[in-house]
Amino acid sequence: MLNIWQQCERIWINARLATMDPQIPGPYGILEQGAIGIRKGRIQALTPMAQLDLDALPAQLSDAQGGWLTPGLIDSHTHLVYGGQRSAEFTQRLAGESYAEIARAGGGILATVAATRALSQQQLTDLARPRLAALVAEGVTTVEIKSGYGLSIADELKMLRAARSLGDELPVRIRTTLLAAHAIPPEYRSESDAYVALICDELLPQVVAEGLAEAMDVFCEEIAFSPAQTERLLEAAKMHGLGIKLHAEQLSNSGASLLGASYGAWSVDHLEHLDAAAIAALKQAGTVATLLPGAFYFLHETRLPPIERLREQQVQMALATDLNPGSSPLASLRLMMNMGCVLFGLSPAEALAGVTRHAACALGLGDQIGILAPGYRADMLLWDIDHPDQLAAEVGTFAPHQRIFGGEICHV
Ligand code: NIG
Ligand code: FE
Repeated sequence: MLNIWQQCERIWINARLATMDPQIPGPYGILEQGAIGIRKGRIQALTPMAQLDLDALPAQLSDAQGGWLTPGLIDSHTHLVYGGQRSAEFTQRLAGESYAEIARAGGGILATVAATRALSQQQLTDLARPRLAALVAEGVTTVEIKSGYGLSIADELKMLRAARSLGDELPVRIRTTLLAAHAIPPEYRSESDAYVALICDELLPQVVAEGLAEAMDVFCEEIAFSPAQTERLLEAAKMHGLGIKLHAEQLSNSGASLLGASYGAWSVDHLEHLDAAAIAALKQAGTVATLLPGAFYFLHETRLPPIERLREQQVQMALATDLNPGSSPLASLRLMMNMGCVLFGLSPAEALAGVTRHAACALGLGDQIGILAPGYRADMLLWDIDHPDQLAAEVGTFAPHQRIFGGEICHV
């Protein structure tokens, strides 16, 4: 009978493995001088080289030559399907107007809604492709994409279909999230409850019937949806078996994170105004705190998310780009790792955990991707670097030496 190594289709040898597996001690879960075997797109086994009998291996061998292998990067929060661009708002904000003021005056999200509604599914896909390709080129192997610039049944479905179709074009796993509750559409300006009812009673059942989203997200904020409306939406999402994510505590403390925790949310995101009671609830519920340093930087925020308390309470912290045309038009998860360290005080190892293991949990995929361990998908990156701290310390100086998606070496 073949042993587990002989069953492998491909084995990387002479690799330094930053497994990110919490069961291996140390910040990166390092296995020096290691080998990792792949079978049917998944990791079959890992071991120190010294324990590997190279003569008995029929599999194809790839020599990592001392390079570092990490899990593929995961961007767990993006809005990368959209029409138009909002550089005029960038200029307005530089002149002193706030994000909320611009939104109230009909700009902001609603400006992108108008531009997105005007485009076909194919046009949206064509615009989104280079944004996604930029993430893929720097090592991203899983990306979450939200709707939320359609705000009508037809336009939200169009956005989700456009997002899904990108996964057939590029070697990357796409997870989609219904964010119909991103802003109140102009047609429902004075009857936002009726829009919430439309989402719950008509849009959501269609999305679920077509299998177009894994999760639901709500922007719970004074300029968007109230906690009561958010709860109604979460109730409907739960009933339909969708995962829950929230835009929470970005501009004010609305209590969305507590609410999210009580519904077992996969993640709550932004969190500049998160309070201590909510942090305890997140820990209790196993909800990931997703930090979005790009939006913090781009909106010139000064109030930091409570990193120290999150760390103390051992709440899992993810990092994501929030890639969108208004508050974070920044298509680089590596830049977010750097910003997470410089702006938020994360360590480089916490930053890597934030775009691997913890990001996986923020997508309900904590048992599938995000660490190098037997049974996990073989989404891996081989880096020609001296130390994994470089992944957060440097931006734009190097790309992955090799990108492995589902066990296949991809050239992108
Ligand atoms: O995550 N906060 C709400 N939504 C986005 C911004 C979207 C936009 O401005 O277009 C965010 O920052
Ligand atoms: Fe967002």
